[in-house]
Formats: sequence, structure tokens, C-alpha cells
Amino acid sequence: MIVLGIESSCDETAAAIVNDKKEVLSETLLSQQEHKAFGGVVPEIAARAHLEHIDDIIEDCIAKSGVNIKDIDAIAATAGPGLIGGVVVGVMAAKALALALNKPFIAVNHLEGHSLIARLSNDISFPYLLLLTSGGHCQILIVKGVGSYEKLGSTIDDAAGEAFDKVAKMLNLGYPGGPIIEKMADKGDANRFVLPRPMINSGDFNMSFSGLKTAVRKIIESSSPDGTMEHAILSPKDTEDLCAGFQAAVTDCLAKKLDTAMKYFKKNYPAGKDAVVSGGVAANTYLRSHLLQTAEKNDLIFSAPPIRLCTDNGVMIAWAGLERFQKGLINKLDFKPRPRWPLEEIESE
Ligand code: KG4
Ligand code: ZN
Repeated sequence: MIVLGIESSCDETAAAIVNDKKEVLSETLLSQQEHKAFGGVVPEIAARAHLEHIDDIIEDCIAKSGVNIKDIDAIAATAGPGLIGGVVVGVMAAKALALALNKPFIAVNHLEGHSLIARLSNDISFPYLLLLTSGGHCQILIVKGVGSYEKLGSTIDDAAGEAFDKVAKMLNLGYPGGPIIEKMADKGDANRFVLPRPMINSGDFNMSFSGLKTAVRKIIESSSPDGTMEHAILSPKDTEDLCAGFQAAVTDCLAKKLDTAMKYFKKNYPAGKDAVVSGGVAANTYLRSHLLQTAEKNDLIFSAPPIRLCTDNGVMIAWAGLERFQKGLINKLDFKPRPRWPLEEIESE
């Protein structure tokens, strides 16, 4: 079984081909550079860039795979949630291919792509506990099966990745913020600045990162002679220490919430053995190593997708499409893309 997957819900235009032996036959990815100047993704620019590149990306992916286009069994695309202009571009391309090749079209929920991708690289069976942490989402879930999720909690304000991006913007470090902050943090002292861990002792599975971001802003402002962000004076060492402190605070919050969730998971799903982290923020090595320790403490096996498959990519959409196809879950060509599409609303039958 061979599935082509297309991703276009944010600022990556990507395609990949996978098979049911868990082999990635090819992958092509273009990270749009147009947004760097704005410190965040501009939806209209993203949609236009997807439109400009999608045909070449798909063509390149198929050519590199060595697969005859006629041997592709199904075409999957991210059909939401995400920036609707981009989602429509990917979905229309997938539907056109499906129609022309007379093959099934599969509408993949982007979050299900992030949720299932760890099963491609690791031997993980259902049910498993998942921390899904990206630029747009931060949730703790139990993945009971394809299309079957129990949400335990989520952020009540910013997603963790969004906080990384906003802090990087305040420090004039560029976009996306996560990888840059991680690099700066490597050289910094995480204990120099005292930063809050919002909601860490709330006892539930919800999270909050907006107050942490404000605390970072206040430290930056306090370095400025007139108290404004524009005139802040931070030495490279200040910036490194602030990045390290911020990364540690986010990690502490995520690790504590996951620790609580692990206890719930073990009690309520005794057959479950695995704890997984996925999504763009899961590319963070410091976070991964702390979550590994949390899992070990709770006697669970910790997994994370390879770093390149944490941030948005076509492989996760092709793989989720393949998992759905194996269950006979295909969609009609009149499926409407959904800018909002919570995991709990996915069809599993
Ligand atoms: O999953 P993703 O590519 O897109 C969404 O679905 O949102 O996640 C992108 C997010 C961005 O906020 C980015 O700053 C963050 O993931 N990110 C990281 C790292 N690499 C990417 N955050 C922390 N550390 C990283 N190494
Ligand atoms: Zn994503």
C-alpha cells in the first residue's frame, strides 16, 4: 500500500510518499522564507506561496520516489485545522490528483498527522499518552486508536511554540523562535532570571504560557533606560540567560503536566505502555531529555519522532492517511476543508 500525502496548513509546502512497511519513499519540503521579515506567518502570503509551489513540490516528490504515479493507492492532504487559504490549495491539489488517477482522497486532520507520526518511526501501540505541542496547539491526549482521542487538557491561552516565537520576537532573534531560543539557551544560565511556572500546581492537565511571556517582557523592559522595549539594552549574555530561563520554565510546566497525565494514564489505561511527545516544540532537545526522565520515573516508554518529523512535514500526513486508509476511512471529493477541526471531532468509522 502506497500513499501520497500533502501538507499546506501553515508555512511549509510539503509532500511525501510512504508505504505500509513504514518506509518513507520520498519527501519534499519547502519552508516559506517570505514570513521572516514579519516575525510570524502572514496568512495571505502563505496561501499565495503554497499556490506557487505546490505543483513542483508534488512533482518532485513523485519523481524522487521512483514510484509510478499509477501505483499510488490513495492521496491524502491536510484538510484542517490551519490557515484556510493554504489548506484549500493542498486539498484541491489532492482532490484533482485523486480524480485524475481514480484513487481515493483522504482528508487528514493536521493534529492527527502530528499524533500518529511517532508510530512510523517507533513501535508504539494504542493506547498511548501524547503531549502535542506545536505553534498553534498544546494539548495532552490519550490516543486510543486512529480517529479516537481523549483530550485531557490544553493550553488556556498561548501554545508553547507560540510563546517561543513571541519571546524570540521580543528579543529580536527572528522567526521561527523555537530553534533560535534553543541554540541561545544552550550557552545560558537558566537560574539567573526568576521566571514563573504558570498553573504548574493547578492539579489539572491545562497549561498557560501567556504570563510567562509577560514576565520575560518585563525583564526586557527593566533593562531599558525609559522602560520601553525599543530601548532595551541586553548583552548577548543577558539574552542567552533569558532564553535558558524561558526554555527551562516551559519545560518544567510541560513535564509537570505530563507527569500528572502519566499517573492518570497508568491508572485508567493499564494496557498502555507509551508516552509520546510530538509537534514542532518536540524538536527541542532539552525538552525531550526532561520528558524522557519524567517517563522513566513513571515506568513508561518515552518516544518522540525524529526531529525533522516534529515540525510540519508531508510524511506525517502521508502516514496518517495510510493509517486511515488501512481502516477503510476515505473521504468524498466534496469534503470541505475545516479551518477549525478539534481532534475529538474526527471520524473513526
Ligand atoms: O508543528 P509545527 O511545525 O507547526 C504547527 O503546527 O504549529 O510547530 C512550529 C512551532 C513553532 O512555534 C516553532 O517555534 C516551534 O514549533 N519549534 C520549536 C523548536 N523547533 C520548532 N520550539 C522549541 N524548540 C525547538 N527546537
Ligand atoms: Zn503542525
